[in-house]
Amino acid sequence: MSEKKTILTGIRPTGNLHLGHLFGAVENWIKLQEEYTTYIEIADVQALTDNFNNPDKVRKNVRELTLDLLACGIDENKATIFIQSMVPEIAELTIYYSNLVTISRLQRNPTIKTEIAQKKELFGNDGESVTYGFLGYPVSQAADITALSGALVPVGEDQLPLIEQTHEIVRKFNTIYGETLVEPKALLSEIKRLKGLDGNEKMGKSLGNAIFLVDDEETVRKKVMGAITDKNKIRKDDPADPEVCMVYYYHKLVSKDSLETICEECKKGKRGCIDCKKELAKNMNIFLGKIQERRRYYEERPEKIDEILKQGTVQARLKAKETMKNVRKAMKIDYFD
Ligand code: TRP
Repeated sequence: MSEKKTILTGIRPTGNLHLGHLFGAVENWIKLQEEYTTYIEIADVQALTDNFNNPDKVRKNVRELTLDLLACGIDENKATIFIQSMVPEIAELTIYYSNLVTISRLQRNPTIKTEIAQKKELFGNDGESVTYGFLGYPVSQAADITALSGALVPVGEDQLPLIEQTHEIVRKFNTIYGETLVEPKALLSEIKRLKGLDGNEKMGKSLGNAIFLVDDEETVRKKVMGAITDKNKIRKDDPADPEVCMVYYYHKLVSKDSLETICEECKKGKRGCIDCKKELAKNMNIFLGKIQERRRYYEERPEKIDEILKQGTVQARLKAKETMKNVRKAMKIDYFD
């Protein structure tokens, strides 16, 4: 029997998951956990690079995120969920990698560049807000991936420059110190980026267009009723083009059984947008209801969450220790056991 490949992915504990996370990433992880050795890292150290002055927020969201992941269908018996800061080998590895990457290369990383530009917009143009830790988080992410020997990294498109940075570090390490580390590959999900109901190319918390997995029925209904439809449709019985309508875009995700009818009725002008939105809100609430029901199961068992995180972290640490042994040997710093 061939050995299963290892998947490593990470997510920052900075807030609750929304549908963008679910359809853009987590749904893919749920499929992958069936086939691969799967590690999901709760990246609290990375979250702290942006939130070092708000440790309460990060701590609270470690649990919230774990609840969200389990509610979506991440199975604790199939995937290993662990807390980044509790695997100190990752921090150790980050230090060794920091010699293998130049400051100018980090500044040129497209993800970092975009994030620095956003910071300048928020905090002014003096660049003072960019810390050493923030600039270095791609190095730390390379350590996340390689410490666990992640061969495949399922991520969104915005993360590709970080995987490329990991490649470079791994290649440089292997060239200087000898073949030691696994070179990871990025795995993109089918839906790379979920559009917002407002027509925005992306759903995001900061964009104000997110539907959270924990949203209650009324909140969902309000958000859905505000969705953008075909702007050429003026009257209720005008025919319209579902392909330019955000309501239809979401029907495709949560109304799979009635999709054909919805599409036909819309094209023929037999479906008013208000009714169509009401139907979407209903289906979305059914969809979210199932997730929320699973969430409640775990919410009522907080000790189970503790145990999942603790056991997951123990397992991840074992793997990371193995990697560190090889790394130390390759770098000739394996003085004694
Ligand atoms: N940077 C990722 C994000 O912001 C989170 C992350 C941390 C990650 N470590 C990782 C993703 C390792 C993939 C692999 O979403």
